[in-house]
Amino acid sequence: ETCDEADRPHMASQLDAFTEIFERYLKEAGSEIDWNRIQILDDKSILPYASLDKFDSLEMRSLLDTLVVIKLNGGLGTSMGCTGAKSLISVRSDLTFLDINIQQLEHFNKKYGCNVPLVLMNSFNTHAETEKVLRKYQHIQVPIHSFQQSQYPRVNRESLLPLPESLANDDKEAWYPPGHGDIYRSLARSGLLDQFLAMGKKWMFVANIDNLGATVDLNLVDFLEHPEKYNRPPCEFLMEVTEKTRADVKGGTLVEYDGKLRLLEIAQVPSQHVDEFTSVRKFNIFNTNNLWVSLAAVKRNVEQRNMHMEVIVNPKTLDNGARVLQLEEAVGAAIKNFNGAVGVNVPRSRFLPVKTCSDLLLVMSNLYTLHQGRLTLSHKRNFLTVPLVKLGTSFKKVKDFLSRFENIPDCLELDHLTVSGDVTFGKNVVLKGTVIIIANHGERIDIPAGAILENKIVSGNLRI
Ligand code: UTP
Repeated sequence: ETCDEADRPHMASQLDAFTEIFERYLKEAGSEIDWNRIQILDDKSILPYASLDKFDSLEMRSLLDTLVVIKLNGGLGTSMGCTGAKSLISVRSDLTFLDINIQQLEHFNKKYGCNVPLVLMNSFNTHAETEKVLRKYQHIQVPIHSFQQSQYPRVNRESLLPLPESLANDDKEAWYPPGHGDIYRSLARSGLLDQFLAMGKKWMFVANIDNLGATVDLNLVDFLEHPEKYNRPPCEFLMEVTEKTRADVKGGTLVEYDGKLRLLEIAQVPSQHVDEFTSVRKFNIFNTNNLWVSLAAVKRNVEQRNMHMEVIVNPKTLDNGARVLQLEEAVGAAIKNFNGAVGVNVPRSRFLPVKTCSDLLLVMSNLYTLHQGRLTLSHKRNFLTVPLVKLGTSFKKVKDFLSRFENIPDCLELDHLTVSGDVTFGKNVVLKGTVIIIANHGERIDIPAGAILENKIVSGNLRI
């Protein structure tokens, strides 16, 4: 009611969008996918990355002028025990996700003499904080834009009434950012979509800001521009998928459904098929959320209201005990609305997400080298896979995690690490093979400086 004059049209369009998703929730709830209509994809729909032409020429410049990079930056660092924007957590050498993303593109633009802009999709949770940090990046060779995604009211789980009683209600808990699927309408609403089209931009590369492997890839840009080289029709949507391992049971997979490519998420799988879905055998690839999408097609679909994505119902309990629902959408679920869509099976290195402090341990360790914003697996590692790491709850918050390591252990020859309980690591510890360290309740284990643990189980009290 008291919202800023200038915000009014935006508020109205957000309310329309909320009403629309809410109605769809009422209408579509319970409508399950028909398992028999799912078809597993063959090589025609999922291209192996290795089959693409190799492209690394300085003449790429004109192609790159058609590209914008959008990083999804609406999320908070809650799962890593931080209160602010996740992208502002330091991940390596005092650089945050945001710093690393900017460095990546800065070096890329310098190398190819181009001006690919970085666009951040912020949420009301992350906008102000991110904008403040961006001030230090005014004079670099990366144009940076940002826009805010929608802000929807949470609804009471029993009454289905929206929590905020008026638009002026600024209690943050009453609102939520409705998932990354919101990107299409928010980008259009911000005016940036039209602006980019008017500048001659054709493609957006969208990725999670916490995926440090999501760099601009010239082979993929070339594929989008020249599908005819591969005997393929124009492609409006390319999803990067990669091979599933034991660690990735949760991710969505790409299937064919009613003649269209479709993202199948675990939430849509009928319960009797969940085991089949999570097995690595039948559904052997998953969505990395690195997506390449035609801007003209986004505009067409948004304007024609043809951007259907399944409603994801996310139940939450707020700090005050209120049981609420959030209705969300996933960006990859829009694939079915685009023509000529394709999946490309990319190397695992393009999927390097940091979701937990266990991921952080690896990214901070000597398993990787950071050069010009790119993290690459160290050539000193003898296998192409990374270790499986499970750190217990004492390591959940970044602050606690950091306080438990004098420095990050050598992980070059590590396969599997499990740590549970009150455990600390001295300086220059080396971990090899399978290492399990368990301090039970009331016990503490201090791994001494310089210790080399190879295929070892450590338990009981060990204080130094
Ligand atoms: P999450 O961290 O929530 O994703 O967001 P996830 O658990 O890996 O799984 P999916 O991809 O949602 O299935 C992934 C990225 O999307 C951004 C986050 O900031 C993160 O970069 N995000 C998420 C938004 O920008 N807005 C949202 O509303 C939700």
